[in-house]
Amino acid sequence: MKSKLDISEMFADRQFQRNALHTRYLNEQLVRVLKTIGYDVGFQRGEGQYLYDRDGDRYLDLLSGFGVFAIGRNHPTVKDALKSVLDSDLPNLVQLDLSTLAGILAERLIAQVPYLDKVFFANSGTECVEAAIKFSRAATGRTQIVYCDHAYHGLSYGSLSLTGDKNFRDGFGPLLPDCSAVPFNDLPALERALATRQVAAFVVEPIQGKGVNMPDDGYLSGVAALCKRYGTIFVADEIQTGMGRTGRFLAVEHWNVEPDMVLLSKALSGGHVPVGAVLTRKAIFDKTFDRMDRAVVHGSTFAKNDLAMAAGIATLDVLKNEKVIENAAARGEQVMAALSAMIPRYELLKNVRGKGLIVGVEFGPPKSLTLKASWNLLETASKGLFCQLITIPLFKEHKILSQVSGHASHTIKLLPSLTISNDDCKWIETAFDSVIDASHRVPGAIWSLGKTLVDNAARKSA
Ligand SMILES: Cc1ncc(COP(=O)(O)O)c(C=O)c1O
Repeated sequence: MKSKLDISEMFADRQFQRNALHTRYLNEQLVRVLKTIGYDVGFQRGEGQYLYDRDGDRYLDLLSGFGVFAIGRNHPTVKDALKSVLDSDLPNLVQLDLSTLAGILAERLIAQVPYLDKVFFANSGTECVEAAIKFSRAATGRTQIVYCDHAYHGLSYGSLSLTGDKNFRDGFGPLLPDCSAVPFNDLPALERALATRQVAAFVVEPIQGKGVNMPDDGYLSGVAALCKRYGTIFVADEIQTGMGRTGRFLAVEHWNVEPDMVLLSKALSGGHVPVGAVLTRKAIFDKTFDRMDRAVVHGSTFAKNDLAMAAGIATLDVLKNEKVIENAAARGEQVMAALSAMIPRYELLKNVRGKGLIVGVEFGPPKSLTLKASWNLLETASKGLFCQLITIPLFKEHKILSQVSGHASHTIKLLPSLTISNDDCKWIETAFDSVIDASHRVPGAIWSLGKTLVDNAARKSA
């Protein structure tokens, strides 16, 4: 008799070989990075906004898998939906048939964004961006795409061509032609670019994920007006900011704008199944799918798979039934108020910004001489290293998992599950207060850690 495959037993048995497996078969450099920052605590389990390590200790996850676990890890409603699909032996991916679940999810997404008409499903964020480029070119007959400095839209060729960061681009050129950048929040620069009437699409994150850069108040409405004036398709990349992250279903709702195309992914499936969705106007969509012989001119084998669609339907239910978006708005304000109140007390803490539960905590050069000397030493060794002096003790001493917002950045980004509680907000406040306080003491443990990181960096480059 065939023995049953028990994945959880396999996980338990072989977890201690992870380093060896990844070093041998996967990305060895990532193994080295994780060893250097010392984050290997052997996570065993995830539930809601928490992770549990091999000792059973609880961590508050402010990373949420880069934003996919907006409704928390392993949400029972999503799990039930997935089990139900598997238990029902549904006729998944027949391809020469129409998926019922895809129809339902599309209907529910359009109900959230009623000024758009059509949905195209994909498997990831970057696939949504690729679709947006193709649909915009097909709809306008133009080739140029404009994006913003510091944008992040993904790492496949089209989306990488709209991602300005050299760290991601170097070594992979040539990228897509006819793509150019304008500064974020610069309407005159955008107008100069669009006035040529050669631009198919302007692709923009309403709040830039790298750096948590906020739009000026009139920016997005200005973008909408300029795109309309010059016949350019306004694409809002809400892959990170959508699905309630900012305290509204879409971030653009805060500024009352209606883009021609909205890209969703990450949180859409509750984090369980890769998924993406492009929402757009019928007139745009129909220019790509314009004849029967072009019915499958763009698509992807696994898009519309039943597991992703069911997880999406369940996620929308949870957002509504558990008032998750309202919670994101309230907790976001609470966290930002608590962190902002620390600015007058800490000269290294410069700014706290965000909307809902995408929050940037920015640090910068101090004024006092002793701190300045230590800061300069660190910055000369590696720009942006200071934030590691905050995130590492947050993790080790306070069991908070957080990330630095991009290469050479002075901003730490908080991107927790939208389900965090009042107590979690207090946890964040106490932990940041303690670590930031320690970072103002020279000499002290934090700056000793800084010296170790600088020495490591020097050894690496030697
Ligand atoms: C705004 C934005 N666009 C696109 C992407 C790319 O998504 P994916 O990693 O699923 O390809 C991301 C991922 O972080 C993102 O934040």
